[in-house]
Amino acid sequence: MNKLDTALVSSSLKDAGFALVDSVKEADAVLINTCSVREHAEQRVISHLGHLKHIKESRPDLVVGVIGCMAQRLGAKLLEHKAVDIVCGPAQIPQITKLLTETLRQRKETITITGKIRRKTTQNESRALEDFESAYGIGDRYIPAQAFVRAMRGCDNFCAYCIVPFVRGPEVSRPPKAIIDQIRKLADTGVKQITLLGQRVNAYKYQTGEKTYCLADLLRMASDVEGIEWIRFVTSYPAEEFFDEILHTMAALPKVCNYLHIPAQSGSDKILRAMNRHYTAGHYLQLLAKARAIVPDIAIAGDFIVGFPGETQIDFEATVELVKKARYKNCFIFKYSPRPDTTADKRLADDVPLEVKKIRNIELLAVQEKISNQLSADFLGKEVKVLVEGLSKKPHLNVAENPDNPQLIGRTETDYIVVFNGPLSLAGQFAKVKITKTSPLTLFAELA
Ligand code: 5AD
Ligand code: SF4
Repeated sequence: MNKLDTALVSSSLKDAGFALVDSVKEADAVLINTCSVREHAEQRVISHLGHLKHIKESRPDLVVGVIGCMAQRLGAKLLEHKAVDIVCGPAQIPQITKLLTETLRQRKETITITGKIRRKTTQNESRALEDFESAYGIGDRYIPAQAFVRAMRGCDNFCAYCIVPFVRGPEVSRPPKAIIDQIRKLADTGVKQITLLGQRVNAYKYQTGEKTYCLADLLRMASDVEGIEWIRFVTSYPAEEFFDEILHTMAALPKVCNYLHIPAQSGSDKILRAMNRHYTAGHYLQLLAKARAIVPDIAIAGDFIVGFPGETQIDFEATVELVKKARYKNCFIFKYSPRPDTTADKRLADDVPLEVKKIRNIELLAVQEKISNQLSADFLGKEVKVLVEGLSKKPHLNVAENPDNPQLIGRTETDYIVVFNGPLSLAGQFAKVKITKTSPLTLFAELA
């Protein structure tokens, strides 16, 4: 979601005549897009701001803006920081060029965030966001031929640990026409893969006249767009609603990637209840079994939080059991981080010591790594199609050393990362590669 917001903001700034530069040294203004989901993410921003404050001592004209979830959460408190001139919440990013221009011209501090974050977005705000999204949904992209498209904003789920409903506001599904028009525009500029975004994207629901559109409808409509070859969607919430229809659509439509990111968060029913997740571990596993029955080669990824308040060793072992049974392609594991305003923070003591959280994190990762390794090994010797993203992150293996045949990185339909050597002109193209070696998270290949 933040990558998309950053792309939108960069495009709008470029359109307004600003130029993006690579370092603070060359910049007149620095904008930091922020995340509040865990304390660690916020600490990193605070440390960046400390650095910028230092730079501003010799360059007082440098303008610094904080945008996104942390801006919404901390509001005026952020302006007290010596480095900060602009505070702009996620719903206010359409105003960013105006705020930046004014601040550069008048050297005054500005703040714009949502006053009452849980109230329904006004028509004006929705329109501003929609206009912004459709105008700047193309342009700046990190990876050639791929783009994110927002299907939904906000969240109403209130999982006990999660700050998202308090910084991104109520759940709103965007009109299907706006989404599809945007996908068409993206396809016209050469985009081949789109990823539909929503905090609970499988709960997408938009009513117009007699018809209620769900995610499966969006997938069908997006599939009809010429030029778009792969369609993904993240993140799914483990609930029955629309589940079968979405999976049958995935099975039926070749363009919809056989990939599901569906966080379980815990394998203990007691913890799931305390997290306000509305399902049991058994129910979750049934959903996975159903997904595999409908889409046999589906790759599934998950998220887990270890050390949620009250998590005993027995609860943690239930999580280990769930991970063993779920056979994820990969999963993201986080140590519980208390977030202000959330029910978990208000009502429950953060009683699992950091050391225990760390041990559980490492242990769960090790369990998953074994499974990932087994699943990856199945690829050995096989030919797969990848969408090439660009150079791999190993500079010694890419252009500098090997200008005609650098190390490239691509992804399979099921989201496996594949590393191979090939011409950089393949970036943004599909390629056939043969897997020659596997590891838990990466497949190694040569061009077929
Ligand atoms: N502490 C730790 N992890 C969290 N997540 C969300 N909130 C918290 C928190 N307070 C994790 C969840 C979610 C992912 C995006 O971040 O696993 O799926
Ligand atoms: Fe947070 Fe739960 Fe909403 Fe996901 S579904 S964004 S974890 S409140």
